[in-house]
Amino acid sequence: MSTRSIVIDTDPGIDDAMAIAVALASPELDVVALTTTFGNHHVEVTTANAVRILDVLGRPDIPVVAGAPRPLTREGHGPATSVHGQDGLGDVDLPPPSREVDTARHAASHIVDLLRSRPGEITLVPIGPLTNLALALRLDPGIAELAAGVVVMGGAVRSPGNVTPVAEANIWNDPEAADIVLGAAWPVTLLGLDVTRHLAADRTWLDSLAPIDTPGARLVADTAPVYVDFHLATEGFDGIHCHDVATIVHLLAPELLHTEPLAVRVVTGGLAAGQTVANAPGHLDPSWVDRPPVDVALGVDATEVLELVRDRLGRVPGTDDHRQ
Ligand code: BDR
Ligand code: CA
Repeated sequence: MSTRSIVIDTDPGIDDAMAIAVALASPELDVVALTTTFGNHHVEVTTANAVRILDVLGRPDIPVVAGAPRPLTREGHGPATSVHGQDGLGDVDLPPPSREVDTARHAASHIVDLLRSRPGEITLVPIGPLTNLALALRLDPGIAELAAGVVVMGGAVRSPGNVTPVAEANIWNDPEAADIVLGAAWPVTLLGLDVTRHLAADRTWLDSLAPIDTPGARLVADTAPVYVDFHLATEGFDGIHCHDVATIVHLLAPELLHTEPLAVRVVTGGLAAGQTVANAPGHLDPSWVDRPPVDVALGVDATEVLELVRDRLGRVPGTDDHRQ
């Protein structure tokens, strides 16, 4: 089995934790580093949360490198505590982080160095605002040719948004960065609300984690209640949407998601800021025609994805121990 090396750029985040847990339980993937960004919380908090997640999952050896504290050009929107809790991770008294992260190093330079030292080998998996990737491109535009791929959770091409009628949270948090990343010459797959809206883990699915005695299943089950409260309050759904883990599933089982190549631009001003707008054949405006197409996910086998996620949460990271 060939192993794919990935860097997860993350703002943990309850669903980020699920994505990290599934990635670490998947022998097909080698998680080279977690890089962190503002988004669901301030970057100091998301960085501490990244360390806490790795501690709980038994992988404190994986490097965590802190990145952007704010968007490229605008003021940030502030932490999403009503979605992910005051601590950004469900307020469940996870142990404090076992280590301090050295802030002298920046996630953007770390990404550049990794892509330069391992050309063609590393897939970037951003599951928060795209600021770190845009900063890395600004530091060294040549890295676009060196990434094996960029698998993004973000956007809403044909679906409504989740923070405005048209914008998805990760793109809305830094629209300028997103427009840069989606227009660079690397192979991008965009997994947005068009598919993650369907990845609805309901009460039955959540309850099915209870008997699974693994660090990953416990982490997801323990941190979910705050996220459930948010979904109950906003859409009356007794469950959670599994946004970020769609990226990891795409790497493990791409056949479960249907993608189409479309050029995508991001609206950067006004009421529609953060909207991802895709072209269609026959639209000749150079703003779209001159851009490389990205693979936009538009369909998903949600039942199979949720089964795969539960299956992987039943494995103990780094071992052959499978408890489901
Ligand atoms: C995205 O926004 C964040 O709240 C989640 O972690 C996910 O990355 C979903 O819109
Ligand atoms: Ca996230």
